[in-house]
Amino acid sequence: MLATFSDVEPPAVTRIVFSEQDLRARSWFKQLCAEAGLATREDAVGNTFARWEGARADLPAVATGSHVDAIPYSGKFDGVVGVLGGLESIRALQKSGFRPARSIELIQFTAEEPTRFGVGCLGSRLLSGALTDSVDITLRDDSGDTLNAVRTRAGFGGDLAAVRLAENAYSAFVELHIEQGPLLERENTPIGVVTNIAAPASFLVTIEGQGGHAGGTLMPGRRDALCAASELILEIERLARSSGSADTVATVGTCEVYPGAINSIPSRVKVGVDLRDIDGGVRNRVLDEIKRAAESISQQRQVQMQMEMLNADLPASSSPHVLQAIESACGEMKIPSRRIVSRAYHDSLFMSRVAPMAMIFIPCRDGVSHRPDEYAAIGDIASGVEVLARSLAALSIDVT
Ligand code: GLV
Ligand code: MN
Ligand code: MN
Repeated sequence: MLATFSDVEPPAVTRIVFSEQDLRARSWFKQLCAEAGLATREDAVGNTFARWEGARADLPAVATGSHVDAIPYSGKFDGVVGVLGGLESIRALQKSGFRPARSIELIQFTAEEPTRFGVGCLGSRLLSGALTDSVDITLRDDSGDTLNAVRTRAGFGGDLAAVRLAENAYSAFVELHIEQGPLLERENTPIGVVTNIAAPASFLVTIEGQGGHAGGTLMPGRRDALCAASELILEIERLARSSGSADTVATVGTCEVYPGAINSIPSRVKVGVDLRDIDGGVRNRVLDEIKRAAESISQQRQVQMQMEMLNADLPASSSPHVLQAIESACGEMKIPSRRIVSRAYHDSLFMSRVAPMAMIFIPCRDGVSHRPDEYAAIGDIASGVEVLARSLAALSIDVT
């Protein structure tokens, strides 16, 4: 059902934060939470919290959740499995007659994807205090509208500074997610227990050259911004491949060409780069090498290059206590699991700054994600939901 809230034809899904389809998806989700008897609240950036009150409501709650926004032409499962799976875990526990001690809270995070405002995990960054309320004015979408204007139009007014969580809001955070990689499927293992989340960085490089007539300007002396960008893009790929770490990944996912006419030499190009490694030190070293490569290409090609960092985050480590709750759940269910690292980022990256965190991965077909053919089998989703339910139950009754 959630996949029908999309701006593109199925099987592809596009659901950009605060678009009409995102707002429809949110209200459908809130209705399901209300039907499950959960008390919902929303903060000023649209993070949604659905709470199952425990007998010890005075204690920090146990939380779970993920996101429902979807990048252009992606699939049905990224994020959604953690939100609807979180709700299903709660409903299953309710049906079983379980009574939580600590409250259990399901969070639907705003804009885990960077599509609209250029920065990933917007909601969880604000919750963890990793961003200040100044982003209300500094972050703008492609139409030039500020975060403040967009969220207010979507019905989320109020003070952005109030989004930050109180200290000790949660005793634990567990996120269920598809692996977005091939290992679990390849090894026929239904559950991955995430020990670390890679350090993501992203930045824009603007290259200024000289435009001109594609016919009239002879080749010698051209300062073609797109040719310079092409060299840089290949150099970024080479540097990531030769970092010495199998975990280094670099992607140039956006490229804007100005003026964008087939018979005009590109005078300005802006590329968007995503760079990650499990080891923040390796990630930073490759980042420095990319900066040096940009300087040398800009000298050789007589163009100017300017780099604007969007984010350069630290990696996260899971909490042994939460890992143990997940592995015990797998033990109770007698299903195999393996420890795994996440090269994708998740809201858990930021939740780990405010609560002991761990993640549950389930396999996805051929490791495919961020594509319309993303797929997770219903049996694997069911196993993930049961592991999540058992983990939440154990963490909820742990009141020590
Ligand atoms: C999240 O979608 C990521 O890009 O890792
Ligand atoms: Mn994603
Ligand atoms: Mn995701």
